[in-house]
Amino acid sequence: MKKIILSGMRPTGKLHLGHLVGALSNWVKFQDDYDCLFMVADWHALMTEYEHPDNLKANMFDNVVDWLSCGIDPDKATIFVQSQVPEHLELYFILSLITPLGLLERCPTYKEQLRQVANRDLSTYGFLGYPVLQAADILLYKANAVPVGEDQLPHLELTRQIVRKFNHLYKTTCFPEPKAMLAETTRLMGLDGRKMSKSYDNYIALSETPDVIRKKVQSMITDPQRIRLTDCGHPDKCNVFSYYVTFFPLMKKEVLERCAKAKIGCTECKKELASKLIDLLAPIQEKRHVLLKDKQRIQEILSFGARRARVKAGATMQEVKELLKI
Ligand code: TRP
Ligand code: SF4
Repeated sequence: MKKIILSGMRPTGKLHLGHLVGALSNWVKFQDDYDCLFMVADWHALMTEYEHPDNLKANMFDNVVDWLSCGIDPDKATIFVQSQVPEHLELYFILSLITPLGLLERCPTYKEQLRQVANRDLSTYGFLGYPVLQAADILLYKANAVPVGEDQLPHLELTRQIVRKFNHLYKTTCFPEPKAMLAETTRLMGLDGRKMSKSYDNYIALSETPDVIRKKVQSMITDPQRIRLTDCGHPDKCNVFSYYVTFFPLMKKEVLERCAKAKIGCTECKKELASKLIDLLAPIQEKRHVLLKDKQRIQEILSFGARRARVKAGATMQEVKELLKI
């Protein structure tokens, strides 16, 4: 029996290179060795975007098209939308019964978001329960492993605590304790050197046009000590170099050498990076172009995925309800 993997993404905007190296490229690899479920976490998006839900559906659709373009295969993995499998909310409620309030209030992601997110009111009952819904996502399918970024580790730990409490209370081994699978690659820095993120507007989208890619790459911050063409560069201090390392590791030596010996100017170096990124994204964008011609098919893939997910989710709920005498 293959191990079960579940992961999810909130449909809050376009997918970018950070998603590709941080998640999608790994998801694609997992498909062959694990029983994979990939979920659009639209309820989770709504927990923060409830005041402006207008773009959620379009983002959801756009994200799924990107998943498929990057090689997520509906014949191998179960691709579905969280809100199309009502069991998520059902288990979320049941888990909320046993989740200690203190654990949620002390959760570092919760505290951080409350402090940092200024343009939304997150002091809601729903947002406090964010990690409980995530636990439900994972446990509904009895996932053994969850590929996530480092920022999600507290949610995984909380899920494991909920599992221990549930199994103990109802004298069962119903749920396995899921393990976090951290992405191999380090997280990708955005154009400005901060983490690549939609909210910083420092990203290169997977669907970005060549012109915009060139413009964005030219705007990247380089080694600040390299002012004239004749100054030797310090690639280790340059974000452009880190892109070469991440996306074109075979070029690492060459770029390092020509930068450190001032054989190439930054404009030229960026021009080459842009053109390589354009080539890298071309097949993904080509596939995207083809997929967008048949939107009906995307809907079919999602209903097929939801049906497949519900078979498993329903079986788990039956078990849970028996344990709770409901
Ligand atoms: N909270 C995750 C994020 O923001 C998204 C998510 C929702 C998720 N449910 C999940 C990730 C279940 C892994 C497993 O990235
Ligand atoms: Fe960065 Fe390239 Fe300029 Fe070196 S030459 S500082 S690697 S952009």
